Amino acid sequence: MTLNVGIIGTGWFSKVHADILSKMEGVSVKAFVGTSQEKAEKAVQGYPSAKAYTDVAQMLDETKPDAVYICVPPFAHGEIERQLVDRKIPFLVEKPLGVSKEVPQDILKRVTDSGLITSAGYHFRYTDAALKAAEILRERKIGMALGYWMGDMPQVYWWRKQEGSGGQFIEQTTHIVDLLRYLLGEVDEVYAAFAQRAMHEIHDGVTVHDVGTVTMKLKSGAVATISNTCMLPESEQVGLTIYTEQGSVDVKSDKLIVQEKGGLAEYPNGANPYQRESEAFIHAVRTGDTSRILSSYEDAFKTMEITYAALRSAETGMPVKI
Ligand SMILES: NC(=O)c1ccc[n+]([C@@H]2O[C@H](COP(=O)([O-])OP(=O)(O)OC[C@H]3O[C@@H](n4cnc5c(N)ncnc54)[C@H](O)[C@@H]3O)[C@@H](O)[C@H]2O)c1
Repeated sequence: MTLNVGIIGTGWFSKVHADILSKMEGVSVKAFVGTSQEKAEKAVQGYPSAKAYTDVAQMLDETKPDAVYICVPPFAHGEIERQLVDRKIPFLVEKPLGVSKEVPQDILKRVTDSGLITSAGYHFRYTDAALKAAEILRERKIGMALGYWMGDMPQVYWWRKQEGSGGQFIEQTTHIVDLLRYLLGEVDEVYAAFAQRAMHEIHDGVTVHDVGTVTMKLKSGAVATISNTCMLPESEQVGLTIYTEQGSVDVKSDKLIVQEKGGLAEYPNGANPYQRESEAFIHAVRTGDTSRILSSYEDAFKTMEITYAALRSAETGMPVKI
């Protein structure tokens, strides 16, 4: 039986997901919803079964999708998810869940009450590097971790606005925070220092911080620090290094580096993590078996709580308990 999928959003990431979905057996991309008819018409090009919409409710009424992908900017969450929960339509939502905790908290309650199948776009969890790191770390004593997202500023208009994206730590570095939770467990307390150093002088209308560092105490007793900047001319370093009594385990976007006494081993990523993420979600929608989904809405909300706590800590100058 063909599984029909609707996609909300017409930007870069909608296309990444649509391309993967349209190559999957028994899956049909039926619709794109955009903020204008023109954008939606442009998005459907190359997907012969897809129709263009500007209204989510109309798309849901007419195409009756079995599942929906939500690929909108952080500020645009809320009403879309509410409609999907009301109609009991499983969804995969791109990270982050919102610009702050408020909207995701409301959606979380609805998702939990309804028992709906959901997935959040924390694709790092599906990389070979993260999966192998999880396996290695099971046998080790973790002391601490050092995470980083050192890059440039994405040029989409909403990213540079605090109310549009939530800022770099909430929007982008959230991947590293989520990876930290996946590999090291839950966070208890955060203390953050953020600042605006250069980007507000280079570009008009920049209200997000462009440097930040966040110290975390974990429930296990381990400690971690995750830093980020978006003031570089190009993207440079993204990753999470975990320090253990047997050496370090370094998860990068494209590989895992394991350093032990007297040796270093590198494991490059093989499979496409976005494809694995979609396969896990589509399998869950088809069969009801959610065991392959590595990040649900409920789980992703815990990552949102930490990134939002970091923002509050940076604003108040005080540590924040999770
Ligand atoms: N997991 C990843 O690796 C990854 C990578 C890139 C982007 N993303 C996430 O995907 C999301 C979208 O990013 P993008 O790069 O595609 O952004 P984008 O700006 O290229 O596209 C966003 C699209 O959403 C549309 N939109 C805005 N509000 C809408 C609404 N209410 N209804 C329907 N459409 C609406 C916009 O018109 C635009 O077409 C972001 O949350 C981003 O963090 C995730």
